[in-house]
Amino acid sequence: MEACPSALLIPGERRLDLPELIRGRRSVRRMRPDPVPREAIEAVIEAAAWAPSPHGAQPWRFVVLTNPERKRELADAMAETWERQLALDGQDADTIAKRLAGSQRRLLEAPALILVCLYLVDLDRYPDPERQAAETTMAIQSLGAAVQNLLLMAYRLGLDTGWMCAPLFCPEVVRETLGLSPDLIPHALITLGYAAADPNRRPRRPLGELIARWD
Ligand SMILES: Cc1cc2nc3c(=O)[nH]c(=O)nc-3n(C[C@H](O)[C@H](O)[C@H](O)COP(=O)(O)O)c2cc1C
Repeated sequence: MEACPSALLIPGERRLDLPELIRGRRSVRRMRPDPVPREAIEAVIEAAAWAPSPHGAQPWRFVVLTNPERKRELADAMAETWERQLALDGQDADTIAKRLAGSQRRLLEAPALILVCLYLVDLDRYPDPERQAAETTMAIQSLGAAVQNLLLMAYRLGLDTGWMCAPLFCPEVVRETLGLSPDLIPHALITLGYAAADPNRRPRRPLGELIARWD
């Protein structure tokens, strides 16, 4: 097996065991501007690639944005779509302005953004729509597993992350703005950086509520 990049010596690494990493990771929405080392970005993507996937197809691709201009272009393009959608929901102008500003700030503040795209090209093809839909669902499930690996590795390396679903609501806009191939289906945007403050944690439901049945 190749050398594991978690052995990277990055200042601020969290030398925690798995349960501590799982519990410690949290969504961070305010980041410091300090840049993220390139090796750390590569290490989190490498961790994502070790996630399980249907047929081992690894149906995900990653787009890394650290250039402030590219981030601004993406933030502006997504904001335009979101503004229209919020107005359609009947939200008032003040609320819309606040929500857009918050989202823009998050995208611009984070020193690195990782756009996670679904990539269906290597999946099996079926003649019936039911099995094809199941195949796509499996790919999306594995995209979630890949993102969780990425988030945990980032946390292990002393970084913090936030998961933004915005690209899912305007995949065409994201693709056009970044000039991406039509094979890439934007699903999630991960902000990567160093927390500016420790966020409040959301409590978890007790096990008794989560386990629907145990015979
Ligand atoms: C598929 C998915 C989409 C999410 N989208 C957003 C989002 O758009 N904005 C956001 O602030 N958080 C988003 N989150 C993060 C959740 O709000 C967060 O994980 C949850 O509140 C639990 O908090 P924790 O991550 O700190 O444990 C998303 C999480 C998932 C799994």
